[in-house]
Amino acid sequence: MITRTEIAKILQTPPIDSDVTVMGWVRAYRGRRFIALYDGSTSETLQIVVDFENFPEDLISKIKFHACISVTGTVVESQGSGQAVEVVAKEVEILGENNLEDYPLQAKKQTVEFLREQAHLRMRTATFSSVFRIRHAVAYAVNKYFNDRGYYYLHTPIITGSDAEGAGEMFRVSTLDPEDLPRTEEGTVDYNKDFFGKPTNLTVSGQLQAEIGAMALGKVYTFGPTFRAENSNTTRHLSEFWMIEPEAAFFDLENDMDLAEDFVKYLINYVLDNFDSDLQLLDKRIQNAEKNLPQADRRPMGLIEMLRFVVENDFERITYTEAVNMLRNSKPFKKGKFEFEPVWGVDLQAEHERFLVEKKFKKPVIVRDYPKDIKAFYMRMNDDDKTVAAMDVLFPYIGEVIGGSQREERQDMLLKRMGEMNISEEELWWYTDLRRFGGAPHAGFGLGFERMVQFITGITNIRDVIPFPRAPRTAEF
Ligand code: 4AD
Ligand code: MG
Repeated sequence: MITRTEIAKILQTPPIDSDVTVMGWVRAYRGRRFIALYDGSTSETLQIVVDFENFPEDLISKIKFHACISVTGTVVESQGSGQAVEVVAKEVEILGENNLEDYPLQAKKQTVEFLREQAHLRMRTATFSSVFRIRHAVAYAVNKYFNDRGYYYLHTPIITGSDAEGAGEMFRVSTLDPEDLPRTEEGTVDYNKDFFGKPTNLTVSGQLQAEIGAMALGKVYTFGPTFRAENSNTTRHLSEFWMIEPEAAFFDLENDMDLAEDFVKYLINYVLDNFDSDLQLLDKRIQNAEKNLPQADRRPMGLIEMLRFVVENDFERITYTEAVNMLRNSKPFKKGKFEFEPVWGVDLQAEHERFLVEKKFKKPVIVRDYPKDIKAFYMRMNDDDKTVAAMDVLFPYIGEVIGGSQREERQDMLLKRMGEMNISEEELWWYTDLRRFGGAPHAGFGLGFERMVQFITGITNIRDVIPFPRAPRTAEF
């Protein structure tokens, strides 16, 4: 059995004068004397002091960047500045040599683009290990938040026959041989011969099934992978991403917005309270990266400062119609600075969302009551008959982090919308049944997990907050 002490534990309550065995990887080795060792348990490294004269040269020469070692030694108060304690090595063992000649990573700074191609190694860097510790923290906080408030975690299917968002951007799931497709008499593909006896795809959202849960368990949430085959090569889109979708009975749009705001603030607070050293590291990283930029291109606040600002202030709430009016009256619009004209009835563009959040209100904004024609069939029709009870939560730098709505619980209204939008009643018989058999007013939303992690870590590209990103023409690892 292997016995070792984790670095986080040693740094938290240093067992001064005791002997410990630590195992980890070398982040730096200075003056053939000081090793900065990491083991993943914390963003901090443990300083190991090795007197190279007391160890065979053959061993000393193997202490290299990212080599894996085991050290047994005594914990002492550190003589140098920068750390409170250090371990004076009595025994050093090389557990895994690192052949630096072929090794793609270097001790100096490397670009995130390069590191993305080395996704099997990039988690070893200080930045990425902090990002993935925080990603874990957010996932944990999601489950804790809902558990503590009486929501049940519902596992909705990954393979489905329905297109929840009606956007048609789906990955097909099939066992048919694409070189030799079975045909019907009419010549179309005979999906009856396919594995499920019908066309199926990877889910774009667990919402429709979550609604089933809400109509029985009252309050549920889903948290799982979601797939979208949109050909969007942006810093905010993935083909495979994780989404959190709470759904609650006896909820209207106001309840939904309150839940959304409280929920994202909780997630940020959880990371602020529990992962401070990782946040500090990421904060410094951004400051360093922005040092040489002109003032106008720098973020107005540091990372931690921004997170505190978001949790301490109420989100601005406006209607879509107000948003369009504000945009049309804005300086950038009047000066022709927008690429797209803000027009009522057309979806807000990223540049519009950024203006509202970063320039106009300088804080998160919830936009509600969107035109019915740019939103999904299931959203509840407002009394004006033009807009639906939808809401999007917009964040600085990221844009939309949450999309949600009150659902249409009135059977006749739902069927009317489905008809107008060419959504098959036959396929969604179970969804409309929910309205026929004891329906209830209800609402919910979807939070893009990676976009949230992006915001909390300050990472600019969404591909750098998921361990193995899936995007158009990108499916390595
Ligand atoms: O706004 P969306 O499409 O909403 C839904 O899917 C609803 N069914 C949610 C619900 O009401 N239960 O997606 C929700 C969120 C977006 O706000 C965004 O944060 C994220 O999911 N998202 C993506 N994240 C990464 N890559 C993509 N391609 C994304 N598409 C949406
Ligand atoms: Mg949306």
